[in-house]
Amino acid sequence: MTHDLRLGVNIDHVATIRNARGSAYPDPVRAAKLAEVAGADGITAHLREDRRHIRDADIDALMSELTVPLNFEMAATSEMHAIALKHTPHAVCLVPERREERTTEGGLEVAKDQNRLSDYIGPLTDAGCRVSLFVAADELQLDASKRVGAAVVELHTGAYCDFHAEGRFAERDAELERLRESAAFAHSLGLEVHAGHGLTFETVTPIAAIPEVKELNIGHFFIAEAIFIGLDPAIREMRRLMDDARAV
Ligand code: PXP
Repeated sequence: MTHDLRLGVNIDHVATIRNARGSAYPDPVRAAKLAEVAGADGITAHLREDRRHIRDADIDALMSELTVPLNFEMAATSEMHAIALKHTPHAVCLVPERREERTTEGGLEVAKDQNRLSDYIGPLTDAGCRVSLFVAADELQLDASKRVGAAVVELHTGAYCDFHAEGRFAERDAELERLRESAAFAHSLGLEVHAGHGLTFETVTPIAAIPEVKELNIGHFFIAEAIFIGLDPAIREMRRLMDDARAV
């Protein structure tokens, strides 16, 4: 079944747990296949430069075993360009990456790097990948994303989720408004709009209700909930919340 609002399940942190123990389990590919059955429309995996979670062999296995599309997240480096061109996954999401960060902290500075990004994106698009740029809710970055040839922008919901978690509700609501305006603006430019980072059962509804948003990418919260309620029920509950948000 294809959904009006797709759910991409990010399985990076299954690999984080595996690697913390230096064992062969839990296997992120097994988690991806379980996520498919639970209703994921796609699987997202981020191959970081330092391979701290997903490894090259995981990408090989995901490419051969998934029945839903792979959204391959990566930094815009020459090493990752070659890996993406070797696999030609359905989607490539370019993210900023700094070694010292715990997770992807900010959006891409597209406006400052337009010439390089145009040259970087062209061959990926020509090879059949849908290229997405992970950006903050900022018109400058969205305009630049269109200019460099991206098909998709993924709006960074991290600040909105952090404000919610910290009880800073006025700031959360202001960020939500920025996300709504950015989604409408990006859509008016002809970009497909995705969103993600930090989403939970508590924060997903207003984001899922933004009509221009076509896909949410969610990871860490699922792995956290897997400890308590299991991965399959967590994905199904998120799917239900997304569908309910869309139905009103
Ligand atoms: N989207 C992008 C581009 C990301 O980099 C991440 C984090 O890897 C996510 C979505 C998912 O964030 P989270 O794991 O907090 O749900």
